[in-house]
Amino acid sequence: MADETYLGSLEDDGFFTPSIKQHSVEKIRVHNYYLALFTTSMKAHWPQRAYLGLYSGPGRACIEGTGEIIETTAMSAFRPRFPFTKYIFVDNDPRCVEALAGRIAVLPDQHDVTLIKADVSDAVPQIIEAMPEFRPGHGLLSFCFIDPFSAPLDFEVIRTLGSRYKMDFLILLMLGRDVRTNFRQYLEDPADTRIASLIDDPDWREEWRERGLRSRDLVQFILGKFDAAMTRLGYKTGRPSDAHPVRVMGKNVFLYSLVFYSKSDLGKQFWDATRKGADPQIKLDL
Ligand SMILES: C[S@@+](CC[C@H](N)C(=O)[O-])C[C@H]1O[C@@H](n2cnc3c(N)ncnc32)[C@H](O)[C@@H]1O
Repeated sequence: MADETYLGSLEDDGFFTPSIKQHSVEKIRVHNYYLALFTTSMKAHWPQRAYLGLYSGPGRACIEGTGEIIETTAMSAFRPRFPFTKYIFVDNDPRCVEALAGRIAVLPDQHDVTLIKADVSDAVPQIIEAMPEFRPGHGLLSFCFIDPFSAPLDFEVIRTLGSRYKMDFLILLMLGRDVRTNFRQYLEDPADTRIASLIDDPDWREEWRERGLRSRDLVQFILGKFDAAMTRLGYKTGRPSDAHPVRVMGKNVFLYSLVFYSKSDLGKQFWDATRKGADPQIKLDL
């Protein structure tokens, strides 16, 4: 499986290549490992398999410090031996969309791809238009990776897509850098809707205060509320330990959690296998 994380060094291809921190490599490794399991196992069962990359980025990045150029999640999604039958990417930065289009154009194989330059919160109608039709005997299974820079992720996007399609989600919850850093402001400004729209609960402040929670409870509180919101959509509940924490390389500074949701037990098994296989440190934690 190690070679299916597709993290080899690449030459500069001339397209937009932003910098990423070393810790982002772990996110890409986890994403790619899951994809390898999902695509290999689902090909025989689902004639149509769609990949959605929300906040997709341009498909390559340069690792700060080493200068190494690697493929990020959007381009890695084309690597599995049995690729998806449909790809949809959303990013609001025209440089990312143009670079991703250029990189996809020179892939050796043809793929069915829709690139959407839009804010993710506004893109749902375009995503639905691009999604393949499905019917009995011609089913569609989808995987959606959501990778924002910060917390303002609108739960409505997940609700609409997760209600309409058979879709598994891998979501980066930016709980360290954004939520923890700006939490006082989110708590004390009732007009700020970031947390409410992320966890699908406009009344979260009352619960926070009634339970007498402190800042050290914040990550577990948000993970629990997010889990409850996903469970209301019919997704299998996750244990707190199912969230995959990513920390600053070599330090114990928590940055974000990767959380996975599926309505099927098999998806959950793939996630457990991914966490065991993609990160040797997690093996020790278990
Ligand atoms: C963390 S980066 C994505 C990284 C990428 N998924 C990867 O694998 O490296 C976030 C991306 O989201 C885009 N972005 C930020 N805010 C957005 C929004 N509201 N709607 C759509 N794209 C957004 C940025 O242009 C950036 O490319």
